[in-house]
Amino acid sequence: MVDLLNVENPLLSFLALSLISFLVCCLFFFFLFSNFYRQQQAPTKTPSPQSYPIIGNLIGFLRNRHRFHDWVSDMLSQTPSSTLQVNSFLNLSHGVCTANPINLQHLLHSNFPNYIKGSRYHDVLHDLLGYGIFSVDAHLWTLQRKISSHEFNTKSLKHFISDVVTSQLSDTLVPFLSNACKDNQIIDLQETLQKFTFSNICKVAFGVDITSMDNSGFVKAFDDAVEICSSRFLSPVPTIWKIKRLLNLGSEKRFKQAIKVVNDFALEIIKSKEKQELQNYKENTGKNQDLLSRFTSKTRLEMEFEDEEKRRKFLRDIVISFILAGKDSTSTALTWFFWLINGHPRCVRLILDEVVALEGFNYDEFKKLNYLHAALSESLRLFPPVPINSRLTVNDDVWPDGTYVGKGWFADYSAYAMGRMEKVWGPDCREFKPERWLDDDGVFQPSDQFKFPVFHCGPRMCLGKDMAYVQMKTIVVALMREFEIIAVDGGASAEKMMNPPYTLSLLLKMRGGFHVRLQKRRDWQMTLKQTSPRKTGKINGVC
Ligand code: HEM
Repeated sequence: MVDLLNVENPLLSFLALSLISFLVCCLFFFFLFSNFYRQQQAPTKTPSPQSYPIIGNLIGFLRNRHRFHDWVSDMLSQTPSSTLQVNSFLNLSHGVCTANPINLQHLLHSNFPNYIKGSRYHDVLHDLLGYGIFSVDAHLWTLQRKISSHEFNTKSLKHFISDVVTSQLSDTLVPFLSNACKDNQIIDLQETLQKFTFSNICKVAFGVDITSMDNSGFVKAFDDAVEICSSRFLSPVPTIWKIKRLLNLGSEKRFKQAIKVVNDFALEIIKSKEKQELQNYKENTGKNQDLLSRFTSKTRLEMEFEDEEKRRKFLRDIVISFILAGKDSTSTALTWFFWLINGHPRCVRLILDEVVALEGFNYDEFKKLNYLHAALSESLRLFPPVPINSRLTVNDDVWPDGTYVGKGWFADYSAYAMGRMEKVWGPDCREFKPERWLDDDGVFQPSDQFKFPVFHCGPRMCLGKDMAYVQMKTIVVALMREFEIIAVDGGASAEKMMNPPYTLSLLLKMRGGFHVRLQKRRDWQMTLKQTSPRKTGKINGVC
C-alpha cells in the first residue's frame, strides 16, 4: 500500500495534500450550495433581515449587538405580519422570529406539542439546569409542573407575603436602605433587589434562610454561569463555544469552575433540608410544606433512582431551576419599574395616593392597588425580564399568517418587540402609560395573553406570575412609603427610551446597574400623621 503522506517522497506528499485540500473544498461548497438551494426551495415568502450567502444575518447581528432587542423590534415592525425568517452563519440553522399574537397563539398553545425545548435548550443549559423544569419536555416536565403547582395557590401566596417578604423587608431591606439614606450613599438598586429576591425565593421554596449562610461566592458563580449560558444561547456561531468547551478554554473554563460552586451550594441547601426533616421526624412536629420538601418526599416515595447520588442530583436540578426562576426575574422587573416612574412623577403621585388609602399591609389589601398593578404591567410590557424566548420545531408546520416553519428550525418570539408593535398596542406603544390598563372606573383590565407574553402563554405559562405580582407590590409599597427613590441618571426620558440601557442576556438586566439616592419621604410622613396606626402596617425603618 502506498503511504500517501510519505515524507521520504516530497512530490507524492505534495500531491496527496493537494488532493485532500481539494476534496475538503468540494465538500464545503457542496454543503454550502445544497443548503442555499434548500433554502430557495423552502415554501416560504417570510421576509428576512439583510442576509448574505455564507454569513447569513451575521453582519446585521454584530452591528446591532448593543441594541439587539430594538433591532429585532424595528425589523419585525417593518414586516407585514411581524414575522421574520433568520438565516444563520453558513446556513447551519434556520429559524423564524415573531411578534404576531396570532402566530404566538399557534406556537405556544394551539400546536404546543410541535414546539419543544429539545436540543435547543438541552445543549446550552443542561450543564447548569440538568433535568430541571426549564430545560426538559414531556414526562419530566409534566411531573415537575404538577408537583410545583401546589406551591402557587392562594394559601401559599398569603404565607409568602406575610411570613417571608414582609419579615425580610423589615429585617434586612428597609434597614439597609435606611442606612444608605442616612449616609446619603449612592447604591445600586438592581443589585440590592437581586439579593433581596434571592433570599425570598430560598425561604419560600426551600425553607432555608440564606441570610445566615455565606452566599456571596454562590451569587457570583451563579451569575457567571447564567451569563455564559446566555452568550451560548445568543451566539451566532455556536460551534465556537462548543470547541471552547471541548478544549476547556476561556469562558467555558470559567463556566466549569462556576458550576462547581453552584452545585456545592445547592447540595448545602439539600443537606440542610434533610437535616430539618429528620429533626421534624424525631420531634414529631409535622411536615414541611415548601417546594423542596414536596420534591424530597416524592423522589423518596414515588420515583426510582439508580442510587442516592442520582436522587440528590435531581434535587439539585430543582433547586437551581427555582433559583433561576425567582432570583432575578422580579428584581429585574422592579429595576425598570423604578427607572420608569422616575421619569414620570405623575405616576409616582398616583401610586402614593393608592398606597395612602390602604387599610393594612397584607395580601388582600394589595388587591386594591389597581393603579400600581397597571403601572407594573406597563413596565413589564416595555421591559419584559425574559425579552426573547425560543422553541425547536418537531415537524414542518405553517403558521396562521402563512409562514412556513421547517422541521428542526428554531421558532422564537420576542416579548420585547411585542410590547413595541403599533399594530398591537397603538401608535403610543413606546410610551409608558399605565392608564391603558384601566377601565373608566380605574379598575385593572388584563390584556389578551398572546399580546402580553411576558409570562409566556399556554401550557408552559409561568407558574410564578401571581407570586411575582404580589411580591413586587409588597416591595413597592414598603419602599415608596418610606423613601423617595431618585435615579442618578434621572430615570426614563423620551430620548433614553429610544436606546434603553440593557444587557444582551437571557434576562433584560440594566447595563451597569441602577444607581439611586434615597430620601426620606416627607409627604408620606405628613400622610402618616393623618392616618391611624393600623394604616401604617408593621414595616419600620428609621432614616
Ligand atoms: C416578573 C417576574 C417573572 C417573569 C417575567 C417570568 C417569566 C417567565 C417566562 C417567560 C417563563 C417561560 C420560560 C420558558 O418556558 O422558556 C416562565 C416560566 C416559569 N416561571 Fe416565571 N417569571 C417570573 C417570576 C417567577 C417566579 C417568582 C417564579 C417562582 C418562583 C417563577 C416560576 C416559573 C416556573 C416554575 C416556570 C416554568 C413553567 C414551565 O415550564 O412549565 N417565575 N416564567
